[in-house]
Amino acid sequence: MLITPNRENLNKIVIMNPKGGCGKTTLATNLASFYAVRGPVPAVMDCDPQGSTMSWLGKRPPTCPSIHGIAAYKRNMQATRSWQLRVPGETQTLIVDSPASLNHDDLRELTRDASNILVPVLPSAIDIHAASRCIADLLLVAKIDRRDRKLAVVANRTRKNTKSFDKLMRFLDSLGIPIIAVLRDSQNYVQAAEAGIGICELPPHKVKKDIRQMELIIEWLDGWRDRRRISMNPGTVHHGGNVTSIHKPNFG
Ligand SMILES: Nc1ncnc2c1ncn2[C@@H]1O[C@H](COP(=O)(O)OP(=O)(O)OP(=O)(O)O)[C@@H](O)[C@H]1O
Ligand SMILES: [Mg+2]
Repeated sequence: MLITPNRENLNKIVIMNPKGGCGKTTLATNLASFYAVRGPVPAVMDCDPQGSTMSWLGKRPPTCPSIHGIAAYKRNMQATRSWQLRVPGETQTLIVDSPASLNHDDLRELTRDASNILVPVLPSAIDIHAASRCIADLLLVAKIDRRDRKLAVVANRTRKNTKSFDKLMRFLDSLGIPIIAVLRDSQNYVQAAEAGIGICELPPHKVKKDIRQMELIIEWLDGWRDRRRISMNPGTVHHGGNVTSIHKPNFG
């Protein structure tokens, strides 16, 4: 059982979707790199026995801003609370990369105290079906309350103006869950993954379009404190920022 710390100031971002290959690790590593460049040092927790995030971190050039890695999939530790101890006290952002399959207990445990939950979705019929099951589990099993607005979708490897993309949009719209960004199919992600970096660490002229989408994700993630405050005080009227505004990524 995984236990991550429940600290008031910790932005715990959980990335999940039981569909293999939908972009969980790509999203986790790119977010980690973005937060590392912005500072302070973020932590990534790799809960997937494949250890892809940890091997990405192993390739990271020493000259790049640091990221603290936690190989949570290694279950050789005895005390459950030792997971907690391994997230450094000064960590403000913890990104959790999850495995393709999670039982209900692990799903509850992983999402407990999450400030943000991101579900990357590929726009194919099979993937949309899997994503709808994942979202149903988050709502019904993990008891994520949609009103807390901590759950969002990132459409990945998307070609606009395709039937499957429209279908994905309609499906999410019907659930009232925002698509906060649309990542295009790009070799930039593949190259960054191979080099142990994120796209924000590639030459800016190569990644202009991709960076914009990543910034939209960060902007939404950064709203977690306000969203939490509002969900704890539902009567509060809040003007501004990403709290009340509906997040509309630029698909153009
Ligand atoms: N937007 C993208 N453009 C191009 N390639 C991508 C994109 N997103 C992911 N990929 C590639 O697709 C493959 C699968 O992505 P990734 O490993 O992030 O998925 P995953 O959900 O973590 O998979 P698993 O369930 O096996 O852990 C990787 O080779 C990755 O480089
Ligand atoms: Mg992965």
